[in-house]
Amino acid sequence: MQFFIDTANLGDIREAHALGILDGVTTNPSLMAKEGIAGKDRVLAHYKAIADIVQGPVSAEVIATDLAGMLAEAEELIEVDPNIVVKVPMIKDGVKAIKALSDRGIKTNCTLVFSAGQAILAAKAGATYVSPFVGRLDDVSTDGLALIEDIVTIYTNYGYDTQVLAASIRHPMHIIECARMGADVITSPLGPILALLNHPLTDKGLAQFLADHKRVS
Ligand code: G3P
Repeated sequence: MQFFIDTANLGDIREAHALGILDGVTTNPSLMAKEGIAGKDRVLAHYKAIADIVQGPVSAEVIATDLAGMLAEAEELIEVDPNIVVKVPMIKDGVKAIKALSDRGIKTNCTLVFSAGQAILAAKAGATYVSPFVGRLDDVSTDGLALIEDIVTIYTNYGYDTQVLAASIRHPMHIIECARMGADVITSPLGPILALLNHPLTDKGLAQFLADHKRVS
C-alpha cells in the first residue's frame, strides 16, 4: 500500500519524506488555505515546492466547477511538474473533465467521493485515483471503511485500473483497516502516520534492553 501525506505543510511533508516511507502528497483548497497560500502564482509555486521534496504523485485540486474552467486549470497545473495529478471533484462536469484528461494520458484524482456509485463513474471516466473520504463518512454515522471495502471489491470484479486512494484518514486504525481491505493508497495527515510507530511494549522492551545493557557495562 502506498503512503501519501494529506497536507500542504512543507514541514510535515519533509518530516514524512525523511522517514523514507512517503510515496506522494495530496492537497486540497482547504489545506492550501490553512498554510495561507493564495493567488495563482503562489499556489503554483507551492505545488512546485512540494513536488521538489517528494519524487511521487502530488495531487493539486482545480477550483473551477465547469468543464472549460477545470480543463484550463489542469493545463496550468500539469506545467508545474511531471508528477502533478489533477484533482477533480465528483460532479457532472468533473466526470467529463476526468474523461477528457485521461484520454490525453493526464493523471487525475477524483475527489469528494462518498458512494460506490460515484466510484464506479470515476473508474469509467478513467480516473487514475479515486478518493473516498473515510473520516467524513464516519462523521455522519456512516461506515467509511465499508465504502473502501465496497470499492475495492467492485474495482476487482471488473479489473478497473483506477487506484483506491483512501482519504480523510483520521487515526492509525483507518490506515491498518485500509491495508487489510486492499486499498492501493492511503492519504493521511502526519499524525496518524507517526502514530503507527507507537506501541507501549516497544517502549517498555527498549527501556529494559537499555537498562540491562547498562547494568553490565
Ligand atoms: O484531502 C481530502 C481529505 O483527505 C480531507 O480530509 O480530514 O478534511 O476530512 P478531512
